[in-house]
Amino acid sequence: MPKNECTLAEQKILAARHAVDDLIRRGELRSNMKLGLGTGSTAMPAVARIAEHIREGNLTGIRAVATSFQTTIACEDLGIPVFSLNSKEISGELDLAIDGADEISPAKHLIKGGGAALLLEKIVAYNSALFVIVADSSKRVTTLGTRFALPVEVISEARVSVTRALASLGAQALLREGVRKAGPVVTDNGNLILDCVWKEAVDAYQMEEAINQIVGVVENGFFTRTSPIVYAAANTGIVERV
Ligand code: 5RP
Repeated sequence: MPKNECTLAEQKILAARHAVDDLIRRGELRSNMKLGLGTGSTAMPAVARIAEHIREGNLTGIRAVATSFQTTIACEDLGIPVFSLNSKEISGELDLAIDGADEISPAKHLIKGGGAALLLEKIVAYNSALFVIVADSSKRVTTLGTRFALPVEVISEARVSVTRALASLGAQALLREGVRKAGPVVTDNGNLILDCVWKEAVDAYQMEEAINQIVGVVENGFFTRTSPIVYAAANTGIVERV
């Protein structure tokens, strides 16, 4: 790596912190807002930056909805008040959600769920007035479906039948295995993950709908029904808002 180039780990922190500060500067992130907080190594520094602004008194009255156990624990540690999306404080609607992504196409269609939190991430994103993605430079791609495997959350009893149905949509689906846990990954919702790849790029908009028609599928990681604001860091350290 040439000198002065930022690593991907550095880019994640730069994108996350810049996004939070810029959203506040633009008035898109304000006191008394209901926020959806994402999961993963890029979302975490954004959560930490929001907590800094709360501690410094720049943001007051923030109510958050966490998208995973990881995020709930981070909010508890950092002192961000967390509520259920169903609570009276949130009433099923959010002002702004901020999260990471695994892949971002030129149309800003996304693959998410690398951390197996796609279900709550999508519920939060699709019920938020504004959706913001923070990302390092590796996440911007030209097509979806052939590189990063699309996570599909399934009911365990339907694992084999859903695998067969996904094959009829052209996908090769592999059960996600746990790390430092014998057997498959079990999601925060008690389901399994099938990771899907195609030989050729797919129409993510169409495929998001088609996969969710399969009986036994809970949700899939294509996010095409929102138009996110993307803060993407480059290896120069410059963060672009797209
Ligand atoms: C978790 C996600 C993450 O946002 C996505 O995997 C990106 O993670 P990271 O910021 O660690 O690269 O969708 O389910």
